[in-house]
Amino acid sequence: MQQAYRWCLLQPHLAPTVALFLETNMSGINYSEKIPNNVNLSEDRTLQRALEQWQPNFINWWDDMGPEGSTDMDVYLRTAVSVDPQGWAQFGHVKMRDYRWGVFLNPGDQERKIHFGDHIGEKAWQDVPGEHRANLRRIIVTQGDTEPASVEQQRHLGLTAPSMYDLRNLFQINVEEGRHLWAMVYLLHKYFGKDGREEADALLQRNSGNEDNPRILQAFNEKTPDWLSFFMFTYFTDRDGKFQLCALAESAFDPLARTTKFMLTEEAHHMFVGESGVSRTIQRTVDVMNELKSDDVNKLRAAGVIDLPTIQRYINFHFSVTIDLFGADQSSNAATFYSSGLKGRYEEGKRTDDHVLKGNSYKILSVEGGKLVEKEVPMLNALNEVLRDDYITDSKGGIDRWNRVIEKAGIPFRLKAPHKAFHRNIGSLSGAKVSPDGEVMSDEQWMAKVGEWLPSNEDRAFVASLMGRVVEPGKFANWIAPPVMGINREPVNFDYVRFN
Ligand SMILES: [Fe+2]
Ligand SMILES: [Fe+2]
Repeated sequence: MQQAYRWCLLQPHLAPTVALFLETNMSGINYSEKIPNNVNLSEDRTLQRALEQWQPNFINWWDDMGPEGSTDMDVYLRTAVSVDPQGWAQFGHVKMRDYRWGVFLNPGDQERKIHFGDHIGEKAWQDVPGEHRANLRRIIVTQGDTEPASVEQQRHLGLTAPSMYDLRNLFQINVEEGRHLWAMVYLLHKYFGKDGREEADALLQRNSGNEDNPRILQAFNEKTPDWLSFFMFTYFTDRDGKFQLCALAESAFDPLARTTKFMLTEEAHHMFVGESGVSRTIQRTVDVMNELKSDDVNKLRAAGVIDLPTIQRYINFHFSVTIDLFGADQSSNAATFYSSGLKGRYEEGKRTDDHVLKGNSYKILSVEGGKLVEKEVPMLNALNEVLRDDYITDSKGGIDRWNRVIEKAGIPFRLKAPHKAFHRNIGSLSGAKVSPDGEVMSDEQWMAKVGEWLPSNEDRAFVASLMGRVVEPGKFANWIAPPVMGINREPVNFDYVRFN
């Protein structure tokens, strides 16, 4: 390739063609086509045409429902140029509607075998088996629906960004959620024929919070009204995305496994934005607590920072709403999805059991006689709970890291994940009145205390009152500390967004 490059320097009229040749070959992604891809899209004219027809509808959706007022902005975005984990991204200022959304799958392995469920040991599927078609389509549509939903939920946040750096991170997440939609739409178009194409259209027709045509999962119809909610959402709810994608990355349906693996590499940044965003919020709060030598909520609010008890209430809310997304603790669908090989467990390959799970059991929680009790149920039926528990362990890690910021500041306050039974709306624990510490209570006791546990209207109004727009390079809103470093080794005061 070096030689080809040198040769092309001597043949200037050929330079662009050869440069493109080099680009596609070095990256594995073909950017010369209307839809960038590494799936040889041009070899399947029917599919290519169908996706090229969907593309303008996607752009229309982006114009209508994407980040408000962002059309003229040049944003310092990363674009996937390869699926190689060692160097897949390229950074540069682009207009978001010109972002090269495309179809990128991790490399395939022709010899890959199904490694769990009733088909264990058989060859992974390159096509959709007829008997699993309806379930697979449902799984893909449900995942696909969350991607544009989060863009819709976040579309007004740019107007109140606490810095240019944060604005850029919001936009990066938004374009990548758009690409995740492309990932699912590719599968629908390629493998599900006419009904797949109809489902792909419907993904652009449902809208977050729309009364007549809402998004499929309730958490994706809620508002993301302020930046603390945004950081909590990207920490907790994008992490639900991580766990769902990890479970799908185990799938016997190989194209789904390969596409979700690449989505996971993008997802990591979203959770980083959430974790570091909350961390910087806490940093600023504890700095002001030390300046004022006070933990008085009113004094801190008067000084324009978010008090730690309010941050705890936001954690309680986002944690409990997000763990509901894993579904009912006993589910025959979960058993079917696993046994038929559609959806595995988190890190299925690292587990040492038989990967069939017949006869195994798992403990779930419910409230009986005013007490939380554990009950053994068949593990296959409890796989939603298994995934939820893995999620809970993972999400507590970030809370520990947030506590280190508080500890380092010498402040005797600790944040906590609420009890799994707190504020639940699905499964055996649905509607149970359980405190964040795991104490079962009466409706009256709950009502008397709930204001201490979940953000009140007053909390939300206070947080909203802090949300003024700060977008001069290197400047930050008063309620949040600057990040330790910039994006892609650029300085913190780099012009990440050019407003034109
Ligand atoms: Fe996503
Ligand atoms: Fe995400």
